Amino acid sequence: MSLHDFVFLTEDASHDAAIRHINEEAFGPGRFVRSSERVREQGPHDRRLSFIAADRGETIASVRMTPIFAGKTAGHLLGPLAVRPSHKNLGIGRELVRIALAAAEKAGSQAVLLVGDPPYYAPLGFARTRPGAMTMPGPFDPHRLLAACFGDVHAMALEGEIHHRDRT
Ligand SMILES: CC(C)(COP(=O)(O)OP(=O)(O)OC[C@H]1O[C@@H](n2cnc3c(N)ncnc32)[C@H](O)[C@@H]1OP(=O)(O)O)[C@@H](O)C(=O)NCCC(=O)NCCS
Repeated sequence: MSLHDFVFLTEDASHDAAIRHINEEAFGPGRFVRSSERVREQGPHDRRLSFIAADRGETIASVRMTPIFAGKTAGHLLGPLAVRPSHKNLGIGRELVRIALAAAEKAGSQAVLLVGDPPYYAPLGFARTRPGAMTMPGPFDPHRLLAACFGDVHAMALEGEIHHRDRT
């Protein structure tokens, strides 16, 4: 199997059940206590910037994007990102991140943030943020809070509270 065997599509409601299954399989019940999930619970994700990968019609990977403010910066929180175990290490996760980043930039996002492993995300354009500069609704490892920034925004300059854009 190679990347060319898969199709990458903008998410719609018909993908919801498969995405739920993929995320359950990847993260288990503990996923709901993560700080990123607390932010995602504050409002809907943006389907126009969320994507799935399909293999012969079956949804096998997903990335979602949620509109947030990081302090005064209007951006997006990337995640969950998950690939079915049967399809790991084929480049699908990286491709979904690339597609989501490009779509966010085109839509005017100033920064895409996530809590994740720097070795995976750094080659995709994510940089570390300043430890302690940002808060989320719950604890997280500040060394894993990463950002891919657009225009003249810089990861190290981000500061303030991360929350859904719908939450006033
Ligand atoms: C992490 C995940 C999304 C990667 O997707 P994928 O399609 O399998 O990954 P890709 O094919 O794009 O990339 C594979 C490469 O990333 C590496 N990699 C995978 N997970 C990694 C991690 N957590 N940290 C560092 N490198 C990682 C692999 O070793 C591989 O390296 P190689 O190219 O040198 O062989 C997938 O493994 C997954 O769904 N994991 C469970 C859920 C999860 O942890 N999501 C991320 C939350 S931050």
